Amino acid sequence: MFKSVTICSSVCLLLLLINASSGKYPTKNGPRNNLLLDFGKITIKNPMKNYDDPNTSPYGEYGIDWVYFPDGNGNIKIGFLRHPKYYNKNVASNSSTRTIFSKSPNTEEVVKFMFYNRKNNDKGGTTFLLSNMTEVLGEIDNSKPLKLITHGWLSNGHTKTCQLIKNSYLKKDDMNVIVMDWSEISDTVWYYKPLSKTKDVASYYSKIVEKIVANGMDPKHIHLIGHSLGAHVSGFAAVTLNRTTDIRIGRITV
Ligand SMILES: *[C@@H]1O[C@H](CO)[C@@H](O)[C@H](O)[C@H]1NC(C)=O
Ligand SMILES: *[C@@H]1O[C@H](CO)[C@@H](O)[C@H](O)[C@H]1NC(C)=O
Ligand SMILES: *[C@@H]1O[C@H](CO)[C@@H](O)[C@H](O)[C@H]1NC(C)=O
Repeated sequence: MFKSVTICSSVCLLLLLINASSGKYPTKNGPRNNLLLDFGKITIKNPMKNYDDPNTSPYGEYGIDWVYFPDGNGNIKIGFLRHPKYYNKNVASNSSTRTIFSKSPNTEEVVKFMFYNRKNNDKGGTTFLLSNMTEVLGEIDNSKPLKLITHGWLSNGHTKTCQLIKNSYLKKDDMNVIVMDWSEISDTVWYYKPLSKTKDVASYYSKIVEKIVANGMDPKHIHLIGHSLGAHVSGFAAVTLNRTTDIRIGRITV
């Protein structure tokens, strides 16, 4: 058992979908002209004319085929929940769609990590990959806690979501903070893509953690923090460590 598992934001999308199907948002037969979506402090009124009407929307039904979704800075984007081949020609022939799905990025090349402490935070931290983390292993202070932050869908490691959490920890105390940036996979309007790669990204993530533990960090002092799909990545990483090593992560917050 993990010492502490907190669940809130990982179910964000699920709640959106449940709200959508419970009739709060437009359905096939409901009124559609006064669409009002409330994401905490962000409210959109009549966001895109006709997009919310499944009969005229190029994207199909709200909450089933597509959603409005806040990116890592809280800006609302249209996100597609199904594979591009499901959508009509206008959307499917979108050239950026084709590009996104034709290249299958090598996780170990595109997923980056940024290491921060009080000394290097002003300089933007130290970026590293599994293949060149020796320098960072020397910078990590094993006597202090390690916070590992993972963003979710439509986000990246430089958004407010990650940076606010990181800066808050460093303000509180000098400690080790690592932010994972898997934006080359996750920062797309197509939910399907990051969703299908979460286990792969988590497996890479677990290798990073394994190296840090081998370098002297007590797993009890490791805290994985994941938002949205980043919560799935964090959970899968801990499970992978459980299955392949004797490392038991101290804490996960999702
Ligand atoms: C095409 O895709 C891009 C991002 O991949 C999106 O921003 C744009 O709205 C799409 N265009 C249409 C017509 O769906
Ligand atoms: C590791 O490699 C990445 C990608 O080439 C680079 O951006 C980063 O600066 C390198 N980090 C270190 C510590 O050498
Ligand atoms: C892995 O998980 C199982 C089931 O929760 C637990 O009994 C075991 O102690 C865990 N192993 C490690 C190394 O954390």
